[in-house]
Amino acid sequence: MAFYRRVGAVPPKRHTQHRDEQGCLYYEELMGEEGFSGDSSLLYHRNLPPAIVDATDWNLPDQTTMPNHPLRHRHLRLHTLFPDDRPPRTDVVTGRRLLLGNMDVRIAYVVALRASPLYRNAIGDELVYLESGSAVVETVFGPLTAHQGDHVLIPRATTHRWLPTGPEPLRAYVIEATGHITPPKRYLSRFGQLLEHAPYCERDLRGPTETSTSTGTDVEVLVKHRPGGGRIVGTRMVYASHPFDVVGWDGCLYPFAFDIADFEPITGRIHQPPPVHQAFEGHNFVVCDFVPRKVDYHPLSIPVPYYHSNVDSDEVMFYCGGDYAARKGSGIALGSVSLHPGGYAHGPHPGSYEASIGVQSVDELAVMVDTFHPLELGEGALACEDPNYAWTWSGRGPA
Ligand SMILES: [Fe+2]
Repeated sequence: MAFYRRVGAVPPKRHTQHRDEQGCLYYEELMGEEGFSGDSSLLYHRNLPPAIVDATDWNLPDQTTMPNHPLRHRHLRLHTLFPDDRPPRTDVVTGRRLLLGNMDVRIAYVVALRASPLYRNAIGDELVYLESGSAVVETVFGPLTAHQGDHVLIPRATTHRWLPTGPEPLRAYVIEATGHITPPKRYLSRFGQLLEHAPYCERDLRGPTETSTSTGTDVEVLVKHRPGGGRIVGTRMVYASHPFDVVGWDGCLYPFAFDIADFEPITGRIHQPPPVHQAFEGHNFVVCDFVPRKVDYHPLSIPVPYYHSNVDSDEVMFYCGGDYAARKGSGIALGSVSLHPGGYAHGPHPGSYEASIGVQSVDELAVMVDTFHPLELGEGALACEDPNYAWTWSGRGPA
């Protein structure tokens, strides 16, 4: 994020004395990416930011993955992981089921009714898409409100917690990066402003507007981190005082929410390729938003995608709203995830190609992640896979 924001009380000059009404100093903390060379913010705490009294193991949900071998297209039915007739007794942080992952990114899914523990991801940024429900995300920068259709981008090492609000379960599709997630660089000016041809602009990003101040002692924070060798582990830290003790902050690093309804689709006379749908990018992956839109208006256009081989990427599509015409009849439905790996072709379901001719608009809503290295399958994927999906283009299964 290169957009300056200021919330609460900060001193006129950075790195100078900032005191409360009794004359006590606040403690300044720099949260900065890439050492001291990237985007950063300065936060002013009532208490010492590093003061912990304990650190023990936090046993993470299963993080193991297995290769997509033999190589197949996959269809995951996420709603079967958390059936509607069994209300989830879990939260957005500890209840995640790992679907797919590689060294660059991991994708998980969770349905939650409970408030999460305090948490931070020390491996990378998290981009959480809310399929349904609403929440307050309390963060060290202040609270964000989030609702169905929001992406919530939480920078690496941001202490936060998810508090579901309202009666509907919070269905969260979680993209965990190794490193950072940003708007596409081609949409940014050399100083970081979103350009005129970008599908959204700064006005569409909702950052914190006030600080969140909590008190207490011996406060637990769950930290996800990588100790080396590619392993992912968790540590339960106990802080001497509540980490939400910030009276003010400013800078260009902070969490924000972005409503997918504010993504303005880019359309054309003939079929536009997936990069026009790109909303974010991370190291070795991109995130695209497929939103309702008018479709191709050349008199001989074919509105559904052409068949394509993603030579260098695995493609993960999460179908989260509307009606995705291109895969009608394949079993793909709301709550489905398709994994179309690099190495061979995929595209519309038989009949969709012809049926799309003359269509004026599509109602689809989908979030896509394209990775530049192969994805492996997590336990959540294996628990909800439709084993017949790979054969749906041919209409025949294995002999
Ligand atoms: Fe595709």
